[in-house]
Order: sequence, then structure tokens, then C-alpha cells
Amino acid sequence: MTPDTLKESGYRVTEGADLSRRNSFRVPARTQWLIEIDDASALLEVYGLGTVKRSPLLILGEGSNVLLTRDWPGVVLSIVARGIHILEDGGDHALVRVEAGENWNEFVHWSLGRGFAGLENLVLIPGSVGAAPIQNIGAYGVEAREFIATVEAFDRHIGRLVRLDNAACAFAYRDSLFKREPDRYVVCAVEFRLPRRRELHIDYAGVREELAAMRIDTPSHAAVAEAVMRLRMRKLPNPAEIGNAGSFFKNPIVADAHAEVLQRANPTLPCWPATDGNRKLSAAWLVDAAGFKGVREGDAGVSERHALVLVNHGTTTGAHVWVLAEKIIAAVQARFGVRLEPEPRIV
Ligand code: FAD
Ligand code: EPU
Repeated sequence: MTPDTLKESGYRVTEGADLSRRNSFRVPARTQWLIEIDDASALLEVYGLGTVKRSPLLILGEGSNVLLTRDWPGVVLSIVARGIHILEDGGDHALVRVEAGENWNEFVHWSLGRGFAGLENLVLIPGSVGAAPIQNIGAYGVEAREFIATVEAFDRHIGRLVRLDNAACAFAYRDSLFKREPDRYVVCAVEFRLPRRRELHIDYAGVREELAAMRIDTPSHAAVAEAVMRLRMRKLPNPAEIGNAGSFFKNPIVADAHAEVLQRANPTLPCWPATDGNRKLSAAWLVDAAGFKGVREGDAGVSERHALVLVNHGTTTGAHVWVLAEKIIAAVQARFGVRLEPEPRIV
């Protein structure tokens, strides 16, 4: 069937849209309706459409943190609005508004190119700016919450735009208010407070070594970005070459006492401090030790490069990837008594 596309002011509706190129696992899936919004002021009108009111709704950005295990029997909503504007510039810091449809990595490069500091550790994370607050994206010792001042979102419970400050977003490791109430808030724009000076964060394993290999003694923010890009390109499979969604499991947070027992039995298990009375364990190490690194079941597999990355070798389905994920969860639970939780949204 040829998709039937209707263009209205501020949004575009497609009936029967293919999602296989809209998810980084590259698994097949379709949606009954796709609504792409390029002007957030159209959200109220879209929200009033009968089809939107009656159908289950899924918000999708660039699809780099979802596993689609079936067709979507309703509406997929995607904010594609673009734009980056400096709202205030106080010298030391600036307040920058970024529309949800901007690409995250392009925004990081925009910020570095204009002399802002801090986002360099978050370079090359795939996806949209609108999705960044959802799981509070993080890498190499830095998280997006350190820069997010306000999130502007359409609250579907009350049918209007709301502005949530940093505290209201309740950010935590790979978590936020938005993740706990999926599809309630349609993020339209994010306002970032970006510093012009900030100390470098180069203590995460591998960063100093990479800078040394680049023969850089006094690194700049741009040099740290370059080091992080090199590390990421070496460690993680590129979704353009092999379908994946980055880390498939969150690093589990367990009580100190449990971590100590596990570390006594497994001295090489990496373990980091977490919130009071807890520690964060390396999920990659647990999956690796359970024997899953490089495992392949049909076209669903675990990357040979990184045990935390589930991959699509070609023509697997999201349902098959999920079967493999459940096997890994069961094996790690049986061997270490730790329950792994998926990081991507399982649809
Ligand atoms: P999607 O995958 O489309 O959506 C993710 C979630 O956000 C879904 O629940 C969706 O409903 C919701 N969502 C998306 N847009 C909106 C919106 N506008 N309003 C409300 N809800 C919305 N993540 C990290 O934190 N750190 C990493 O280092 C990292 N590395 C990665 C490496 C690779 C190779 C890949 C493929 C992924 C990696 N990820 C990482 C995960 C991913 O990049 C992030 O989660 C990213 O923010 C997802 O953006 P997206 O636009 O693709 O979101
Ligand atoms: N390890 C193994 N086997 C492997 C890979 C790693 O045992 O195959 C062990 C090593 O001991 C290594 C440790 O795991 O030192 C940690 O590995 P890595 O530095 O690659 O980090 P990670 O904990 O696996 C996290 C994030 C990544 C983020 C990197 C860098 C989570 C779930 N993942 O990975 O985020 O890029 O740190 O900060 O927190 C993502 O969220 O999608 C993602 C890629």
C-alpha cells in the first residue's frame, strides 16, 4: 500500500508508515499512523484530532533507544522541529534553547564551535535533543542533567504546554520523570545553561590514555571531544553498519553488602560508587562473564566488541532480539543474583 500523506500547517500525517529506517536496530515494524510535527504550536490541534484521541500513542525521536517488537497499532508522534537560539548571554554562561528535533551530536558540535564547554564528553551519542532528557543521557563521567535548565513539553494529561525546571525533571542515572511516565510529556524544546569555562572530566577509564596517544599534554575541550569520539568509534558498533541501540542493559545498582559479596567472589567485577548505601556494577562484565559476548542466535546477537550491545546481524526481528535479551537476564540472575534491566524502551 502506498502511504497516504496529508500535509497540514505545522504537521504531516502519514497512514501506514514504515518504521524500519526509523529505529537504529533496523528491525521491521510499521505504524498505523505517523504524525511528524515541525512546529510545536501545532500540538494542540494534533492532540484534538479524533485519531490521536482514540489510538495508543508512541513518541519516537531518531529511534536509537527503542526495540520495536511488533507493529504499532496507533499513532507514532515525532517532533522534527529544528532551531538553536541563544536566549541570554551573561558572559560566563549562556541560556540556549534547542528545539526537540535537532540532532544531539550536531548540537554538541555547535556548542563547542561557539566556545561553550562541558558537552564534549557527550559527543557522538546518537539521537535527538528532545530525547536527551528522557533517560538523562550520559557518557564518560558526565550527564545531560548537569546542563539542562528547563524542559518545555506538551503535557497530555492537561492538554497544554508546561515548563519543567531541572528539579522537576527528577533526573537520575538513565532515568527521569519522563521515563517514569512514558508518553505523558511530549518534549518540544530543551533549554541548556552552557558555561564558557568548566573543568575537564578526563578521569573516566580510557580518556587520559587516548589523549596521551594523541600526544596532547594540556587538553582543550575540543581535544577531549576528539578523544571520546575515538574511544566510542573503537568500542561501540556503528548502527549504520550493524543495527543496535547502544547499551542494552543499565548498569545495575545494588546494595553495598551485595556488591561486596559479589566482588569477593569476582575480584575483577568493576564497581562504582552510587547513591547512599548502593553501588553500581558493570552490566557488560556480568553479561561477558555469563558467556554471552559474541553469541549469535540467527541474526540476533551480542556484539563481539562489547558485551552490553545487542545487535541485528541482518534480518532479525525485535521479538527475536527480546528473546535473546530475556535469556541473558535469566542467566545473569541465576549466576550472580542480579536482575538486569533493559535500557532501551521495549515496545
Ligand atoms: P528514541 O530512541 O526515538 O526514543 C527514546 C525514548 O525517548 C522513547 O521512550 C521515546 O518515547 C522517548 N522520546 C523520544 N523523543 C521524545 C520527545 N520529543 N518527547 C518525549 N519523549 C520522547 N545513551 C546514553 O545515555 N549514553 C550513551 O553513551 C549512548 N550511546 C549510544 C550508542 C549507540 C551506538 C546507540 C545506538 C545508542 C546510544 N545511546 C546512549 C542511547 C541513545 O543514543 C539515547 O537514548 C538517545 O537519547 C535516544 O534518542 P532518540 O531521539 O533516538 O530517541
Ligand atoms: N566490559 C567487559 N566486557 C565487555 C565490555 C566491557 O567486561 O565486553 C567491562 C570492562 O571492565 C569495562 C567496563 O565493563 O571497564 C565498563 O565498560 P565501558 O567503559 O564500555 O562502559 P559501560 O558501563 O559498558 C557505559 C554506558 C554507555 C557509555 C559508557 C561510557 C550504561 C548502561 N552504559 O557503558 O552508554 O557510553 O559507559 O560512559 O550506563 C548507552 O547508554 O547506550 C551507552 C552506550
